[in-house]
Amino acid sequence: MINKNHIEDLALFGGARQFSTPKPTSNLVRPDFEKFLGYSRTFIEQHQYTNGSLVKLLEQRLAEFHQVKHCVAFSSGFWALALAIKALALKGKDEIVMPSFTYRRMADIAAWTKLKPHFCDMEEATLANSAATVRPCINNNTALILGVHPIVNFCDIDGLAALAKEKNIPLLFDSVESVYESYNGKKIGCFGAAEIFSMGASKLVNGFEGGYITTNNANLAAQLSLMRDFGFQGQDKVAVSGGLNARLNEVHAAMALAGLDDLEDQVVRNRDRYHTYQRLLATLDGIRLLEFDESQRPGYKNIVVEVLEDWPLSRDDTVRVLNAEMILARAYYTPPLHRKRMDYPYITAELPVTDRLAERLILPPCGHLVSNEDIAGIVELLKFMRANAVEITQRLRTKEMQ
Ligand SMILES: Cc1ncc(COP(=O)(O)O)c(C=O)c1O
Repeated sequence: MINKNHIEDLALFGGARQFSTPKPTSNLVRPDFEKFLGYSRTFIEQHQYTNGSLVKLLEQRLAEFHQVKHCVAFSSGFWALALAIKALALKGKDEIVMPSFTYRRMADIAAWTKLKPHFCDMEEATLANSAATVRPCINNNTALILGVHPIVNFCDIDGLAALAKEKNIPLLFDSVESVYESYNGKKIGCFGAAEIFSMGASKLVNGFEGGYITTNNANLAAQLSLMRDFGFQGQDKVAVSGGLNARLNEVHAAMALAGLDDLEDQVVRNRDRYHTYQRLLATLDGIRLLEFDESQRPGYKNIVVEVLEDWPLSRDDTVRVLNAEMILARAYYTPPLHRKRMDYPYITAELPVTDRLAERLILPPCGHLVSNEDIAGIVELLKFMRANAVEITQRLRTKEMQ
């Protein structure tokens, strides 16, 4: 299936690439074009490009989907998160407890809200924060706890909720990676004070860009919808300060609505890709697939694998070789945020689990542009790399010295 017999055949060492088009880790799902055009006709005919009926319809559909009372849509997940943090953080306190092993802009979002990220460690079993990892970071300055769902399964929903209640600190969930899931029979979207989601092109619901918040708190929803719209009420009465233009526009809502219509079909396709990886990786030693808990309705959007002790290449060398073949695998959440240079204040202790696992995880290609045949080719290539690991490593080190 792959045309590699010798390490010279690897693209990194001058051979032909395995794929002629990139195989990304980004979902890039494309809903039915006619459906997208059908929704788009509404704003074209009404000459209503923002504040129109499609955003309202999308909010209603998302609230139904997540079985929650309110949904407020935003221009991005970034601004949904920033404004939710601003609305929820306890006044007069300035720390937000968040994992370090997460989305690369998470600390920047906190800095926009003038809060200091206080990084907590994660659980080895979930790759996410938990009551046990958050508790040591709570102090008199804690304004908010941010629970972030990892790509596979969940952070400690119940533990964080109990801790937030005990300490009387608001709890916000970043649920960007858990759109489709249910947790013990309840849809993700109704936990904590609010949950935030993204509709960027790499996400389960592709709105080109966009984000939203779900909550059962009517006051919070009303405040957030004012904040995304300059803080104005009516013509230009300033109802809340710190508002900005973070509205979702109608064309993005049209795309997201078409995506919602196709969601069930998409999840079937995602599941098929996941099961192909599961079946084929079982025949390869040294790389472990992180398994979804299939009883919690996963959306199977991304695939995460761990490079085990007996994998004979480093994680980074593995990614380099793959990337040269147009297999755009990526190191998962690397470097962790507490290892990045930041020019704003933050707080961190030693985060041993984060540091250890940050060296071991890979996101292999998945999503709309990746077929089962591609996955078979990727696993074949990994087998070839395993069999030729000593030579590959030597060649890489020699290449670096040149
Ligand atoms: C976990 C997480 N939170 C928040 C965001 C921000 O979303 P957006 O890209 O829509 O601004 C992202 C984006 O990738 C993310 O992965």
